[in-house]
Amino acid sequence: MFRLALALMAGLLWMAPATAQSTFTPRDENPEDFPAGAGRDETFYACTACHGFKLVAQQGMTRAQWDDSINLMIRRHNMPALDDKDRATVLDYLERVYPPRAPAARGGWQNPFAK
Ligand code: HEC
Repeated sequence: MFRLALALMAGLLWMAPATAQSTFTPRDENPEDFPAGAGRDETFYACTACHGFKLVAQQGMTRAQWDDSINLMIRRHNMPALDDKDRATVLDYLERVYPPRAPAARGGWQNPFAK
């Protein structure tokens, strides 16, 4: 059912008359471009209402930091608040797929005594 709705929406956008162009911004991203997993599509659509998902995907944060980011989006950028269930779904996905980067990923082995 959800897929059908998406297909219909895609069809409508495709047929949208030229006059609609000033409000319609074409996207060059799809949820499929990002790691699969529970909550991916929900997260993608919640965040791409305003900006590309790449802006999200390039971050690595803890759950608490992601939670803060969402608060920031709501407070500063007028993002519609997510209900508790959606928020948990989005946080589960972000926490699992975009955790803080391990130090090893930044520059190989690091001497733990050299700090
Ligand atoms: C209502 C609009 C809106 C929604 C929805 C939204 N954002 Fe944003 N977000 C913004 C704006 C505006 C900026 C700042 C402008 C920019 O950097 O493009 C931003 C920037 C960001 C940044 C970069 C912050 C930085 O310090 O560089 C992150 C991370 C982010 N958003 C995460 C999210 C996540 C995660 C979601 C979905 C859960 C989301 N946003 C949904 C409006 C929104």
